[in-house]
Amino acid sequence: MSVATSPGGFYRLEARRKLERITRVLLVGSGKGGVGKSFVACGLALSLSAQGFRTGIFDIDIHGASVPNYLGLKPPLRSSDHGLEPKTVRGTKVMSVSLLTGSNPVPMRGEKKDDTITEFFALTNWGTLDYLLVDLPPSTGDELLSALRLFSGRASLLLVTTPSRGAVNVVSRLRRLTLSEGIPVVGVALNMSFMRTEKGKIHPFGRLGAASVRRLLGSELLVEFPLSQTVNSKGLLESVLGDKDVSSAFELLARKVADLPKDKHRSDVAYSQL
Ligand SMILES: Nc1ncnc2c1ncn2[C@@H]1O[C@H](COP(=O)(O)OP(=O)(O)OP(=O)(O)O)[C@@H](O)[C@H]1O
Ligand SMILES: [Mg+2]
Repeated sequence: MSVATSPGGFYRLEARRKLERITRVLLVGSGKGGVGKSFVACGLALSLSAQGFRTGIFDIDIHGASVPNYLGLKPPLRSSDHGLEPKTVRGTKVMSVSLLTGSNPVPMRGEKKDDTITEFFALTNWGTLDYLLVDLPPSTGDELLSALRLFSGRASLLLVTTPSRGAVNVVSRLRRLTLSEGIPVVGVALNMSFMRTEKGKIHPFGRLGAASVRRLLGSELLVEFPLSQTVNSKGLLESVLGDKDVSSAFELLARKVADLPKDKHRSDVAYSQL
């Protein structure tokens, strides 16, 4: 059986065809769990859409997807003559494995995950997009390796971290891995960086300034998000729309991402220097 006629080969070719209509793929990752990758991916996607860019978000967190929760989405998925139809939220096209599996557990490992991610991407009717944001799960395991394989040569990476040293250490490992794979890093989004109190700003997880970000992660600090009370009490959409600190940070991040010239998507610090 030739590559083109084997089932895996068909999906890879179809994925390549889908990618031809997507200008930029931005992986959103950290390696570390719970630092706000999905929060940043969803909010950035909504802000890019609001700024007029055709935007999609592909959630490849097979075991712990949170994009549908953040955006208030539930199964079922609809299919058409063009494939699986992504859900749409405020103009953003959204696809997640959990929109098929719902709240059922998904016991899966290795190659099967790779096949699932590739097939899901290939079968989705993304149409023409300016940006596809890929929400990565924690770790540098199967899903990340699938994303690197699927989007190799097409993707750049937005790093998400909190200011804590533990998080930054893990993030620096992801950065080393992706640099060695030739994935450029566009910069760093610092999440849960500060909180506003009556006495002014406090930094519950420590302070991390632009100089430290550059020194520890070799990348530019693009934006700082507050620890927002509305994210957890009212949800992401409310937080993006209703919390001025959050909404202005997402607007700023979307503008910075959109303003990056193509060559700025290249990394500015060599892997060997880290
Ligand atoms: N800026 C913020 N302010 C307050 N809560 C936040 C903020 N960012 C994220 N959270 C909350 O922290 C938790 C983890 O966020 P999120 O799911 O986005 O992290 P993640 O890095 O994608 O996690 P995972 O590693 O499980 O994929 C969620 O409950 C989320 O609502
Ligand atoms: Mg997540």
